[in-house]
Amino acid sequence: MPNKFHQTQSITPDSIDLPVPDQEARLHCEQVTTHIRKKIEEIGGKISFAKYMDLALYAPGLGYYCAGLQKFGEKGDFITAPEISPLFSRCLANQCQQVLSTLNAPQILEFGAGSGIMAADILCELEQLNCLPEHYLILELSAELQQRQHQTIKKHVPHLLERVRWIHHWPEKPFNGVILANEVLDAMPVRRIQWQGDAIIERMVCWQDGFTWCDGDDINPEHLTFRHVTGYTSEYNEALDSWIKQAGDSLQNGMILAIDYGYNRQEYYHPQRSDGTLRCHYQHHAHNNPLILPGLQDITAHVDFTAVAQAAIAADLSVAGYTSQAFFLLANGLTERAEANYPETVPAQLQLAQQIKKLTMPDAMGETFKVIALTRNIDIPLTGFMMQDYRGRL
Ligand SMILES: C[S@@+](CC[C@H](N)C(=O)[O-])C[C@H]1O[C@@H](n2cnc3c(N)ncnc32)[C@H](O)[C@@H]1O
Repeated sequence: MPNKFHQTQSITPDSIDLPVPDQEARLHCEQVTTHIRKKIEEIGGKISFAKYMDLALYAPGLGYYCAGLQKFGEKGDFITAPEISPLFSRCLANQCQQVLSTLNAPQILEFGAGSGIMAADILCELEQLNCLPEHYLILELSAELQQRQHQTIKKHVPHLLERVRWIHHWPEKPFNGVILANEVLDAMPVRRIQWQGDAIIERMVCWQDGFTWCDGDDINPEHLTFRHVTGYTSEYNEALDSWIKQAGDSLQNGMILAIDYGYNRQEYYHPQRSDGTLRCHYQHHAHNNPLILPGLQDITAHVDFTAVAQAAIAADLSVAGYTSQAFFLLANGLTERAEANYPETVPAQLQLAQQIKKLTMPDAMGETFKVIALTRNIDIPLTGFMMQDYRGRL
């Protein structure tokens, strides 16, 4: 069978039809596998799924985000909104402008900047809106991606490169401005859990001729009071509270804008979603087995936006808006921006129409992706939530 990777049984079971990794990729995958197996042995035979996900994605020099793979765009594994069209980032810039213009010496901090294209397009639009921030800070875990971001910004907006600073931890002194996180919360390691009778058990990862699931302790997370049938499996992001707290502590006045695919808690733990929300991406094939292709595939989990809102309130932030990506972009002038730069040739017009569809159609990113705004000392109705605000659903 041509379209399958049979070399190592532990890496891709026959049930998932995926492209065949080349020799170099297979060697890389073996190195990552060995690294994770060592950790499992060191810790006594099993590790939490959060630990597995952390190693598979972020082990220095080895993990998916840290080892120089293509990842983003047509030649990579998945496409994020800023890679689909600059219109996404321009609309975000519009929302930033509304907040930045009310602040003294404002800055932007982008967390997890991927290829750097969102930073480049936002800076470009803010320049046109005459609202450039003093600095555009990027907090990026992956050294390899930091380099790529530098190249992208240098290529697209070389005259603005001097405003961009790469930082390695949250700023020590709170600043005025905006914190942006697009498709970052879904890339944070999550705990995998399973309802068994009255208990919620943690699902762990162990090794038996390949990575495999095994039971851990009874952990009953306090915030999960739903009752489900035995076998119902899902996940939760234990690190979310501390991320929101750190982002909040970094802001003197301003807004945190997080965009990601996710649901409110009721939808997240809906009885029909009985195998959770884990999603993996390998060369534009999506599937839900995170235990294969370690280091070669992206692993994500949807965001529980109720958890985001609760963490924000605990961190003394206001939940200033929650809506779908489609409503947020339209309210920030998506149509007007598309019209203003309407291309002349028919192929380019068709391409633009496709891009807008991907960003806004409910069955593409429009409804699956949500935008949440968390603010500190900002008391204006935010443009992006004026068409539709779903805060009541959180
Ligand atoms: C799915 S990518 C999204 C990239 C980009 N925001 C976009 O929309 O194209 C996740 C990004 O978050 C970064 N990241 C994940 N965890 C991080 C952490 N703890 N600190 C800093 N960056 C992190 C990854 O390296 C990567 O750049």
